[in-house]
Order: sequence, then C-alpha cells, then structure tokens
Amino acid sequence: MKYEDRLQNVTVLGAAGKMGSGILLLTAVEMADLSLQPQNKNKTFVLNAMDVSDEALFGLMGYLREQVRKIAEKKTVLLRQLYADREDLIENFQIIDEYIFRVLNIVRPTTAVEVAYRSNIIFEAIKEDPALKHKVLSGIKKNSEKNPWFFTNTSSIPITELDEAAELGGNIIGFHFYNPPAVQKLVEVIRSKHTSDDLFDFAMTYAKNLRKIVVPSNDIAGFIGNGHFMRDALYGIQQVEKLATEFGYVKALYAINKITQDYLVRPMGIFQLTDYVGIEVCQYIMAVMNPYLKDENLHSSILDKMVEQGVKGGQYSSGAQKDGFLKYEKGRPIAIWDIDNKKYINIDSFAAEVDAKLGVLPASYKPWKVVNFNRNKEALLTAFFEDLNSMKTLGATLAKDYNKRSNEIGLQLISSNVAKDNEAVNTVMLTGFYHAYGPINNYLK
Ligand SMILES: NC(=O)c1ccc[n+]([C@@H]2O[C@H](COP(=O)([O-])OP(=O)(O)OC[C@H]3O[C@@H](n4cnc5c(N)ncnc54)[C@H](O)[C@@H]3O)[C@@H](O)[C@H]2O)c1
Repeated sequence: MKYEDRLQNVTVLGAAGKMGSGILLLTAVEMADLSLQPQNKNKTFVLNAMDVSDEALFGLMGYLREQVRKIAEKKTVLLRQLYADREDLIENFQIIDEYIFRVLNIVRPTTAVEVAYRSNIIFEAIKEDPALKHKVLSGIKKNSEKNPWFFTNTSSIPITELDEAAELGGNIIGFHFYNPPAVQKLVEVIRSKHTSDDLFDFAMTYAKNLRKIVVPSNDIAGFIGNGHFMRDALYGIQQVEKLATEFGYVKALYAINKITQDYLVRPMGIFQLTDYVGIEVCQYIMAVMNPYLKDENLHSSILDKMVEQGVKGGQYSSGAQKDGFLKYEKGRPIAIWDIDNKKYINIDSFAAEVDAKLGVLPASYKPWKVVNFNRNKEALLTAFFEDLNSMKTLGATLAKDYNKRSNEIGLQLISSNVAKDNEAVNTVMLTGFYHAYGPINNYLK
C-alpha cells in the first residue's frame, strides 16, 4: 500500500492527552497536506481522535484550531501554491481559514474505540500501563477489518513484549515522540523482534515528512532517553540522601538541583525536570523498567513518599507547571517541599547559606540559555569545564561526580546494547533533553 493510501484512515488513541494531542496535530497536518496533492484530490482522509474522556475531547478541537492557525501562518507561501486552482482565495487570511477548515474537517473526535477497526494506522498514546495497552491493542487487532500498523508512544515498555502480549504479529513499532510532540524534534524509533521492514520504512518516511530527527533505539525497557533520565534522576535523589545527613533534606535537594542546572549547564535542574515530567510518571516508568534490569534497582522511596503525599508535579492542561519537589511562581522555583514536615520552605530563606557552602561557580560560568544557542558553544563549554576541573569546592566536586555518573550511564546504554554508539546517546540528550553537550564528551577530566 502506498504511503498516502495508508494514511487515509488513522486513529490516535489517547488523542486528548499530553502526547496524543500533539501526535494528532502533526498527523492531521500531514494528512491535510497529502489531501491537497493533485493525485490525492479524490481521496478521503479520516483521522479519528479517540479518547475515553469526553471532557478532554471537548477542549481538543479548540487547541487544534489554534495550533493549525500558527502552522498555516508560517507556510502561507506553500499554501498559496497548493491552492493555486482556487481563484476565490485571494487574501492570506482566506487561505489560512480554508486550510484550518481542511485540517479540522479530517479530524473526528470520539470516545468509541470501534472507529479504530477501520484504520490502517493506530497511534497509541494512552497511559503507561502495560496491561491497559495490551488490552486495548489486542482488542483492536482482533476486531479490525484492516490488519493495522500500531505506533506506540510508550516511554518504557519493550515493544516486543507489547507485540507478543497483544498478539500483533509484528505489526507494531515504537515511535517515541518527546513532549511536546509538535515542538520537540526527536523521535526514538524502536523495532520489535518481529517488526517488518515495510512498517519500519513507512515509519521513517512519516518521521522525515514531520521533519523529525530519528534515533533508533534497541528494544530494551526505557530505551535511550528514559534509560538515561531515570538513572540520572535516581542518582540525583541518592546524592540528596547523602548530602541530607549534613545539610538536611530541603537544603540538600536545593543544592543538587542547583548543581545539575548551573554547574552542569543544563536547561533545568534534575528535580525541576522530574516535576516537569511528573513525579508519578517517573515512579511508574521506573517500575515498568525495573523487572527488565539485571543488577540494578530503579526505585526510590522518596518518589513513593512524594506520590503518597499527593505532591506529584506534572502540568495543568494550560501547560503551567504543577508543584512537586519545587513550588513554582510564574514558572520559577520559589520553594522546596519538605518531605518530613509536608510543607514548602521558601528558597530565599536558606539559598545564600547553601550557595556559600557549595562555593563560587567557575569564573567562566554562563547560564545554559547563553551557552546552548551561542555560535561559540564549544569554546564556552571548554573554558567552563577547564575552570570546573581545576576547582575543589564542594559544588565543583558534586558536579564532577554527577557528570561522571551521567557519562557512565551513557556508556552503559551502549554496552548493554540499548544505543548503537556515542552519537545515538548524545543526540537523544542534546535534542530530546536540550542538554548543551552529550553525556559522552571530552570535557570530563
Ligand atoms: N508526558 C510525557 O512527557 C511523555 C513523553 C513521551 C512519551 N510519553 C508516553 O506517552 C503515553 C501517553 O502519555 P501522556 O503523558 O500523554 O498521558 P496523558 O495522561 O496526558 O494522556 C493519556 C490520555 O489517554 C486517555 N486514555 C486513557 N485510557 C484510554 C483508553 N483506554 N482509550 C483511549 N484513551 C484513553 C486519557 O483520557 C488521556 O487523555 C504514555 O505511554 C507515556 O509513557 C509521555
């Protein structure tokens, strides 16, 4: 079946969720663009936006309209060419409105899973729950008229396991978008043991059309991105536990968050990132990965306790950050959750004391924002790490240890055959996590 024919009938499961809504947007635009090609003019394109939540689906169409408008405004020149035969469309706003109408006209919001029985492609972006995913995917497979291809967005479940448990016969591929899918350039692509070449080739064409950077990962729980992130976060928690004996928990957490942001020149500290992803999501991903790991226990009682206390991070549907390890005001951390006394402690009340204990930042320090988008990024990083390597302050020591651990994790992902090589690991961390440098680097001494 040709690429565009396969995309004539598609379903996104979990379409109103964080990931599903982005996947829906990207796919709707790809389908609308295909439908505008002269050779496809007589074909019908249908994209089912399936979710169990009526309420969430209600807000979805408004989100889509806004996002498609932004996309259309950026490609009016191309749209003019595609609508060259439409003499009635004169002004840009008419072309944009027509395009929004076309994209939205393809999308069918529904809570009925049966719509998926007629689809050739199913994007699955429901909760990270293996049993639920097995049930939903096998139900569609058994009832489908089409023998569809499944694209799962799972963050951690081995694709072969999903394939075999749901009896999909190799008609599945891991297509791991990063959050938010419409913005993040990276996709990790994971074949199951049985994924066919046809499905893989289709997935690569789809990724190329969406202008994504593809990093193949082997089919090992957590893949490359979460393989690094989960271990990196767990190391951060362990460092807090160690430092807490001297600093107390709240100050230790502040210190390690600062080390991982400022001293490692990352876009955010490890606890801010954990809040961003969601504490419960991280707890869950570790639990899914853990049974597959030998000689490692990816588990933290601090994460368990945070979830028990109902402090879970994650985001509101507006995109605003919910409080977690850190409390946020206009997106900026202002307090740390005191896990023993169950309340937030203002950072201002102790930051100066902890900063003094960590010592001064390297003289050549510049924030991630300045470094990452700088033409002289390499030179800035070299100067910074030269300074850092020569320092013996507590902050510098903690940072060097942290970097060493991040490097070990990167190498472990290669030696355990999750990632093909250094470049695969570094690309995931550079493009999926916006690190200024990959974990496998020459800055470490
Ligand atoms: N959030 C991230 O940062 C991120 C990044 C990459 C991958 N993922 C993965 O993407 C998937 C979805 O995660 P999310 O963060 O978008 O979750 P989410 O909770 O925001 O969305 C899940 C959606 O699925 C819907 N849903 C639940 N059960 C359903 C069912 N049986 N049928 C149809 N819809 C159902 C829910 O109503 C919800 O709208 C997970 O597998 C997750 O691991 C998440």
